[in-house]
Amino acid sequence: MKGIILAGGSGSRLHPLTLAVSKQLLPVYEKPMIYYPLSVLMLAGIRDILIISTPRDLPAFKRLFRDGRQFGLQLTYAVQPSPDGLAQAFTIGRDFIKNESVCLVLGDNIFYGAGLQKLLLESRRKVEQEQLAVIFGYYVDDPERYGVASVDRSGKVIAIDEKPAVPKSNQAVVGLYFYPNSVIEVADGVVPSPRGELEITSVNQHFLDQGRLHLQQLSRGFAWLDTGTQESLVEATEFVKAVEHRTSLKIACLEEIAFRSGWISGGQLSELGDFLGKSSYGAYLKKIANNVESQAY
Ligand code: DAU
Repeated sequence: MKGIILAGGSGSRLHPLTLAVSKQLLPVYEKPMIYYPLSVLMLAGIRDILIISTPRDLPAFKRLFRDGRQFGLQLTYAVQPSPDGLAQAFTIGRDFIKNESVCLVLGDNIFYGAGLQKLLLESRRKVEQEQLAVIFGYYVDDPERYGVASVDRSGKVIAIDEKPAVPKSNQAVVGLYFYPNSVIEVADGVVPSPRGELEITSVNQHFLDQGRLHLQQLSRGFAWLDTGTQESLVEATEFVKAVEHRTSLKIACLEEIAFRSGWISGGQLSELGDFLGKSSYGAYLKKIANNVESQAY
């Protein structure tokens, strides 16, 4: 399975913060926002990943991650000339995806919770073995801001609407999607919505019509963090800070995930810690490399 991170958009809701810097590079506590969605792909065992961003911002992502080898990954980059909608990820990514299945994560979505990796691996299995599309629902108070899924009593999706004025449920569809290879063809057929975007909801509607859409509920044990406004950005930072201080473990530490996955050695992890100089992040990498006890995380 391949992975795509969509990290473009104008970031206009966060102006002036995003006038010169990509939204997905803004800090969420001690690391750039994109670390969080990238960690999700890595936890799903995905190592071949395409990062899509604007012509202005793509060079900054390349500077940050280079070819990804330091994390045991293979990273490639592509430009989205203008923010025409999330479904464009699959047409831009066509040559990258080739004939594989694909997981798309939005570069501004943050996930945290016990059992996340298990859930991701299970979703991947559903796509690869059952050719289903898998999306995730999260209970929110303001569903009109999101894609909204309504389900019947058995948990089967019966409708999916993008930012409905009158939502049929409180289930927001989060920015993490697993699809079989046919998503490329499906995305090809998507036409712009009334707001002029190639909507991911239209892609999901297609799989729903085919009876091949699986909605996985994210229970209250999970946090799905929004970074869309100044307030929610600060809240995300506070959340990460509180969890990291209490557990003494980092959320979305890419080097740590690579090490624990066996993609890089303890020696390489330690070198990455040295490379990051005097930062507490660098010190953490060296601690993990030397501390066998913390490996039972
Ligand atoms: O966050 C989950 C929601 O994301 C879903 O519930 C909605 O169904 C989905 O449409 C999307 O809604 P948003 O209104 O939050 O999408 P937004 O336009 O803010 O874009 C989400 C991220 O993707 C953002 O970081 C910018 C980036 N983006 C967006 C567009 C439209 C791109 O990179 N390219 C684009 O063309």
